[in-house]
Amino acid sequence: MSSQQGILSIDQGTTSTRAIVFNLDGTKVATSQKEFTQFYPNNGWVEHDPEEIWKTTVETCKDAIHQAQEQGVMVAGIGITNQRETTLVWDRETGQAIYNAIVWQDRRTSAFCNSIKVKEAAVTAKTGLLLDPYFSASKVKWLLDEVDGARALAEQGKLAFGTIDSFLIWRLTGGKKHVTDTTNASRTNLFNIHDLKWDKDLLALFDVPESVLPEVLQCADDFGTTQANLFGKSLPIAGVAGDQQAALFGQCCFNPGDLKSTYGTGCFALLNTGDKALNSQHKLLTTIGYTINGKTTYALEGSIFTAGANIQWLRDGIGVINDAKESQALAESLDYDHGVVLVPGFAGLGAPHWNPDARASLYGMTRGTSQAHFARAALEAVCYQTYDLQQAMASDGIASSKVLVDGGMVANDWLCQFLSDILQVDIQRPKNMETTAIGAAYLAGLQLGLYKNLEDIMSHKQIENTFSPRIDQGIRTTLLSQWQKAVDATLAFSE
Ligand code: G3P
Repeated sequence: MSSQQGILSIDQGTTSTRAIVFNLDGTKVATSQKEFTQFYPNNGWVEHDPEEIWKTTVETCKDAIHQAQEQGVMVAGIGITNQRETTLVWDRETGQAIYNAIVWQDRRTSAFCNSIKVKEAAVTAKTGLLLDPYFSASKVKWLLDEVDGARALAEQGKLAFGTIDSFLIWRLTGGKKHVTDTTNASRTNLFNIHDLKWDKDLLALFDVPESVLPEVLQCADDFGTTQANLFGKSLPIAGVAGDQQAALFGQCCFNPGDLKSTYGTGCFALLNTGDKALNSQHKLLTTIGYTINGKTTYALEGSIFTAGANIQWLRDGIGVINDAKESQALAESLDYDHGVVLVPGFAGLGAPHWNPDARASLYGMTRGTSQAHFARAALEAVCYQTYDLQQAMASDGIASSKVLVDGGMVANDWLCQFLSDILQVDIQRPKNMETTAIGAAYLAGLQLGLYKNLEDIMSHKQIENTFSPRIDQGIRTTLLSQWQKAVDATLAFSE
């Protein structure tokens, strides 16, 4: 059997770590996945154990590389994509984190963010972000302030800060590289997205010493090589992007106006705006889509904090369903007028409300309310929230005629159809649903010269199904008005 070349993509997500090997035509040849523990030590706090993240990364990579070898595919390099904003600080000498990773969903720094709210316009002008606990900066400040001795060590240059990509690269290269890419840097609230540099004023505002920062590279770049003892031989790490940006790239949203929406733990809609960093007037974020060949492409982003997590809560939190797959049949069993609305503020509400103190609420229950209502309301909520993002984008002057979707939830046909009905645009589902992982693989492949250019990558894109609107307009109007009332009541309750 003659051997083929493949690319290993590490997708370090919020609830699991996955390693996938792709052929150069984008076919998945090996996959390995491990879930890890979610810690909720206090109200609104969410943490991960850095050692569990590292362990699951090494184990899944070894497994995927081995499976690929058995099929005659040799890994030529690595792409990394990751849950964004999640914050780690580690000791440069030992490589040990000084505390658990503080996850993007964590709200512990809400009061601090409120206390500097007057600075929001200035922060947004530089970073494209808002003052919300979601982003890394206030989490780094918390770690340096609250972990015994951390600030003094940081000031002596002994600590390193990084998002998950940066931590994994540090470990994979045996501490040789302390780097990140522009997309991950753009989610910290410390990085100026216009001049692509860490910003001194922001570092002062969040009390973060420059000495802890990683070097920022492009998305297709030389991120170092793995230690030879990890995977049998040294492999180049050649592509990095935050998971939502990787999905944008994996969906081949290379042209201004291209819009993708990913339904993972949360839902994140990113719109390519080309070389312009557009300022939203409707609380969407401006973020870096990708930087390749010295050129940065920007995106407008709508961030919804819980999507698949709503279904997980039904399964693991209250035991209403046994398996996420049940949700489609349950949702389909009801008519449009079932009357129950879930506003999923489990981690506060993101775009366009940005209310970290909002909490989830369920409206319209009767004695006849069943598990089907819960499932249906949880799925509908994700579509209504995407509608709110679509409206915000339209108010900012951009109306897209179609949305490219991906993420675990969109395997559900009912969800895709309802999304199309509510948004009144075509919903396109790709054949290769691993858009996040393939995005990182494409970036690594570009750097390694395995793809010539974006057109070459684009030639592998295939659409599996298109869902078009078919709902009665009167019903749609009623549903949207119920949703709006429920959101207003939820926001009022948090005041
Ligand atoms: O910004 C958070 C995001 O990167 C997490 O993505 O896939 O875990 O929903 P996901």
